[in-house]
Amino acid sequence: MTKIMDGVFYTGVQNPNLRVFDVIMKTDYGTSYNSYVVKGRNKTALIEAAHNTFFEYYVDNITAALDGATPDFLVLNHTEPDHSGCVDRLLALFPNLTLVVSQAAAIYIKNITNRADLNLLIVKDGDTIDLGGKTLRFINAPFLHWPDSMFTWLPEDKILFSCDFLGCHFCEPQIFDGKIAYTDQYWHAFRYYYDCIFGPFKPYVLKWLDKIAGLDIDCICNSHGPVLTRAGYITQAIALYREWSTPQTRAHKLSPIFYCTAYGNTERIAGAVAEGMRRVIPDAEIGLYNIIEHDMATLSGLLNESDAFLVGALTINREAVPPIWQLLGNIEAVNIVKRPVALFGSFGWSGEAFPHVAQRLESMKLNVFERQFKINFVPSDNDLADAASFGADFASTLI
Ligand code: FEO
Repeated sequence: MTKIMDGVFYTGVQNPNLRVFDVIMKTDYGTSYNSYVVKGRNKTALIEAAHNTFFEYYVDNITAALDGATPDFLVLNHTEPDHSGCVDRLLALFPNLTLVVSQAAAIYIKNITNRADLNLLIVKDGDTIDLGGKTLRFINAPFLHWPDSMFTWLPEDKILFSCDFLGCHFCEPQIFDGKIAYTDQYWHAFRYYYDCIFGPFKPYVLKWLDKIAGLDIDCICNSHGPVLTRAGYITQAIALYREWSTPQTRAHKLSPIFYCTAYGNTERIAGAVAEGMRRVIPDAEIGLYNIIEHDMATLSGLLNESDAFLVGALTINREAVPPIWQLLGNIEAVNIVKRPVALFGSFGWSGEAFPHVAQRLESMKLNVFERQFKINFVPSDNDLADAASFGADFASTLI
């Protein structure tokens, strides 16, 4: 437990050995599950709980901060189980605890705890709780990064409890940003966390950055990694989120072509498609990327930044090969709605990759080009000429 200021305590749990989070995120620097205790004259609130695995450590920390007080509220700024997984056990200790949640979270937390008898206080944007000299004001922030996400603002102390926003998976013994020992690693973790957690929600990041822009914030008590301070990294961290979330303006269209190829046939088609596209949009950036020869994060970034993209699909065992699915699994669904995309490739037996990939892209609301260009086995010269025409036709829809 660490005192942040009078009546406000850090009660987070450190997990330096974590190396994978939520299956898909690497956590080279471990993480922390940050939580806080806010004590007013009359009432006491816990802000966030903890991962179920670390419940005992969490209880030790809040017990020290509570110093004999009984908490009245548990504020859950969102309900992802790394912060809510121990709630049912916490309620066994404090059965009269009121859970303060957004409307969406009210549904989730019942299913996370498997309890229908929860004492819930559902708060809307702008609602407040007076603890006595300390006010909790709630700011709805849906899709940062869950539908139920919100921030909690403590105006008397100028503290924003920001949920995962502006946090990162990074674990050092000191909790404040001014005492980070390995700053390069911290900023690497900060960027990676943004890319994985908030990159898919860029319009929402900008919207809610605007919403909190008027707050005179001294301290950002996030849910992972170092607490940010005015003298430390608040300004820099917010500026980076804004920069990374702002759409890039480019002089030329970016239309990467991603493909997999077993015997070079789809690769040759990809080259012809690119040639046809360049006839129509000669100044476009039309790179050719054999998926297995490039870093997946780089390809995902290109795809998500693109104006349009193409996929050269390869079928093995009646399915698109795993690298294609891995790439498509990194699509930022919110940001990429209506993005033009076209499919092409060679197939040997049955070519199920084409309908399967098309169905996936359509389900994500991308604008899938009405024609697919498919060749059985080896493309002839005529086939390559047709592939170029296909590329030109697709390019003409981008002008
Ligand atoms: Fe740290 Fe979205 O949970």
